[in-house]
Amino acid sequence: MAHSMAPSTVAAMLRIEFGIRKVKLALRGLKKSILFTVIKYGAGFVWLRNPVGSRRVIIGMIIQKLRRVLEGRTPRIGVAYDLWSNSYDDQPGNLVWDMDEELFERFLALVDLRGKTVVDIGCGTGRHWPVLLASGPVSLTGYDVSRGMLDKLLSKFPQARVGLIGEDGIAPLFTGSVDIIVSTLALAHMPNPEPVLRNWARALKPGGCLLLTDFHPAALSHGAKRTFVHENRSFVARSFVHPLPEVSRLLISLGLEVLDSGERVVDESVRHYYEQKGALRAYEQSKGVPMVYGLLCIKK
Ligand SMILES: C[S@@+](CC[C@H](N)C(=O)[O-])C[C@H]1O[C@@H](n2cnc3c(N)ncnc32)[C@H](O)[C@@H]1O
Repeated sequence: MAHSMAPSTVAAMLRIEFGIRKVKLALRGLKKSILFTVIKYGAGFVWLRNPVGSRRVIIGMIIQKLRRVLEGRTPRIGVAYDLWSNSYDDQPGNLVWDMDEELFERFLALVDLRGKTVVDIGCGTGRHWPVLLASGPVSLTGYDVSRGMLDKLLSKFPQARVGLIGEDGIAPLFTGSVDIIVSTLALAHMPNPEPVLRNWARALKPGGCLLLTDFHPAALSHGAKRTFVHENRSFVARSFVHPLPEVSRLLISLGLEVLDSGERVVDESVRHYYEQKGALRAYEQSKGVPMVYGLLCIKK
């Protein structure tokens, strides 16, 4: 026999069910907010209990992670160039190299290398070595922070004298023992130029010369980076901004005199480098920015 409920009973049951559902929803919300509160205050608690130093480490790790995601990996400089060493020599149409070469050759024409003791700091794979060796030095020694780059150099010049140095860039040079110091596109990788330049000035004989070229600090400040690809992953070779007036002032204070100097700026004459790489947007952004500078100095 079918039962039919009175409308008032149905309404009461519906009210009860509606009430239960509201309580369930409220409980679910409460659970969520308890979980959220635990996470929030738990993290806050851990954070506060951490000493300042480790908090800094945590912030550093987060920033590093974000940087890696945004701009590619930035390993230690020696590791970066170890990774880069296999493909470093294979860079056709490298604007920075060409700008460097222009300044380097101009300076080299003003210096007599015959019978001289020459040292190349941050020598890499020995890109300038054919021309340096052809100039007749009595010795040519290269120093670099990357074993990989030095191995590449040795594969091209098996008799070469080379030395591995640390990230501080300080080569083991005797006082007043060197006629010519060459350093191309390396100084900005060294965190502190003062002890490096001091070391060079100390090692140079009176009348000795320094041929320096480097990635321009203005380009670095403008956001330019030295990047490369290794096994389909992008890497950055870390650089530091050493303002040019500061470098010049340091050199002068160390007893060196600037004989010649130059800068190479991104202008219409180098537009085709960017065009060939399909990077005209980068060209527009870099127009007017000096990319490479060079200084030829003599020790008084
Ligand atoms: C852009 S490459 C230039 C190599 C070479 N001089 C040239 O012009 O092709 C920079 C070189 O500097 C080296 N380097 C970077 N930091 C260094 C440091 N702190 N001390 C010595 N060499 C360093 C790198 O390993 C790399 O071989």
